[in-house]
Amino acid sequence: MAKSKGRVSDAVMRRMPKYYRYLKEMRDDGIERISSRELSDKMGLTASQIRQDFNSFGGFGQQGYGYNVNELYEEIQKILGLDKTYNCIVIGAGNLGQALTNYSGFEREGFHVMALFDINPRLIGMSIRDIPILDIEDIEGFLDQHRVDIAAICAPKDAAQSIADDLIKYGVRGIWNFAPTDVTSSSEVVIENVHLSDNLHTISFRMGGYSL
Ligand code: NAI
Repeated sequence: MAKSKGRVSDAVMRRMPKYYRYLKEMRDDGIERISSRELSDKMGLTASQIRQDFNSFGGFGQQGYGYNVNELYEEIQKILGLDKTYNCIVIGAGNLGQALTNYSGFEREGFHVMALFDINPRLIGMSIRDIPILDIEDIEGFLDQHRVDIAAICAPKDAAQSIADDLIKYGVRGIWNFAPTDVTSSSEVVIENVHLSDNLHTISFRMGGYSL
């Protein structure tokens, strides 16, 4: 685990990737400067909310009429740890595990997928984008020999917690869990439980007439 840099609220933490996404798009579109007003309009936040968010990290200077897009992008990239690369593995090489591995965008952002692991002998030995599917039985040896930062769990719900416990025991410090259960840990590991169905249920909820 990296040295603590202080506390940041969950809401700010969840907004940072969105700032990054918008700034990346602006940068790719060749936009050099943006006023705090334009940024707030684009993001759907108030200018004071944006200032408060940025103040959590000491604030980012506005020069002239606004922010320098590239500088802000690079600052947020660093804050998000996206100026580094991460070694990743995927546990469960079924539909979702293969889909995540097939998406090369994660690789471009520095998340390098080294291998997938599965229990199914029909999958073991195959590869996805030249990334091998290995036997889950061999995971301990693999983690002994390779530094793995993040593991995506794409296995069935019943296996998820014990898979996570093993990964954590062998030194993995980031768990991206897709199984429909909330994986937990008492150690200092970063866990994100992703439930796409929650978003879908929010859509059906709102379509029923409730609004924000
Ligand atoms: P799948 O059945 O296609 O793939 C699961 C794979 O896990 C299989 O290849 C199976 O052999 C393997 N597996 C089973 N036990 C294992 C173990 N102990 N260690 C390693 N591998 C093991 O299922 P699919 O569609 O890929 O879904 C994977 C998981 O993701 C499920 O838990 C599913 O409920 C969940 N899911 C979650 C979503 C989300 O929004 N978070 C969306 C879609 C699926």
